[in-house]
Amino acid sequence: MIINDSLQRPLRDLRISVTDKCNFRCTYCMPKETYNKDYKFLAKNEILDFEEIYRIAKIFHGLGIEKIRITGGEPLLRNDLSKLLGLLNQIPNLDLAMTTNGILLNKYAIDLKNAGLSRVTVSLDGIDDSIFRAVSDTNYSYRDVLSGIDAAINANMKVKVNMVIKKNINEDHVFKMIDHFKHSGIVLRFIEFMDVGSTNHWSKDAVVPSLDLQRKIHSKYPLKSIIKNYNGEVANRFELLDNSLELGFISSVTQPFCSECTRIRLSSDGKLFTCLFSLSGFDIKNQLRSGIDDNELTELISNIWQKRDDRYSEIRNQIGFQKKKNKVEMPYIGG
Ligand code: GTP
Ligand code: 5AD
Ligand code: SF4
Ligand code: SF4
Repeated sequence: MIINDSLQRPLRDLRISVTDKCNFRCTYCMPKETYNKDYKFLAKNEILDFEEIYRIAKIFHGLGIEKIRITGGEPLLRNDLSKLLGLLNQIPNLDLAMTTNGILLNKYAIDLKNAGLSRVTVSLDGIDDSIFRAVSDTNYSYRDVLSGIDAAINANMKVKVNMVIKKNINEDHVFKMIDHFKHSGIVLRFIEFMDVGSTNHWSKDAVVPSLDLQRKIHSKYPLKSIIKNYNGEVANRFELLDNSLELGFISSVTQPFCSECTRIRLSSDGKLFTCLFSLSGFDIKNQLRSGIDDNELTELISNIWQKRDDRYSEIRNQIGFQKKKNKVEMPYIGG
């Protein structure tokens, strides 16, 4: 079954956040001055358990979902996460992926792979500790992340690396990242700093437009454009001319991709969000816990999708929305 939203976009991807906690404090996502102070993290009883998540995932599968991505916060902080992957892996024909900061991959990569996880995307904003720590604000070293990436590769998972680019902080560092990941089989993607939430001090001046970055890279390492893997892929793909590395540019600020957005997000406390920039979500957890049956749940979720008309990134400049205080935060909704 395929369902379309009000702008004729099919529902294809479900992103499930399994925790709002993280062991990093990336400045663009969880700045310390907010998250180490008065931020109230979710309590255990507010969070969906694995059976609840599995039940929701099965309903989504019946509605045409082809991919599930596990996100956080940092998803590997959730106890026994491999068990959840094992459950999700019972759903047929699903692409199962996860976005992580990589620190705990050393410990869990093999279990995750055995449970059914075929690929991971690791966030890494620099391979020099002064830059890495300036962006990710952590006592860990970039070397810990690289060792997590190695563990994922050794466990036979496909790996992508996401690097969020902040102007004058790590933009020139892209060359070192490119040199490092050449010939590794890893896909390296550059993400424009986005105005998600209201705590990350976003400003347009801190964004490096992907086209500028692309030109800069092209002058040193000539690039050729390659076609998208699938409709709705968020990254524009390129390859170095010698085929030694695939690069991706995710440009939600300067080249919005809302017209092809097939994603829905489930927060760890069981709310559905139809856009990364939504102001509020649709509560599913209380419905589950008050005994809704599968048919009613299917109906509820289809209605949410069919009414959807979000296209925030396409209209951000018209609606003066960036400074609103009640936007959902990235670690809560998942990237
Ligand atoms: P694959 O194509 O399956 O590899 O994954 P993906 O690119 O969908 O997942 P990933 O978590 O790596 O997404 C990359 C980043 O792109 C996210 O972390 C977000 O920062 C951004 N992004 C993903 N989806 C959206 C979206 O719907 N809207 C916006 N504005 N940004 C998005
Ligand atoms: N802008 C762009 N990307 C972000 N991410 C988190 N916050 C932001 C932001 N404000 C990215 C992370 C990670 C993914 C979950 O989202 O680097 O790769
Ligand atoms: Fe944690 Fe990822 Fe957010 Fe960084 S971007 S603070 S690693 S959830
Ligand atoms: Fe989808 Fe909203 Fe991102 Fe547009 S801004 S691509 S509608 S999540």
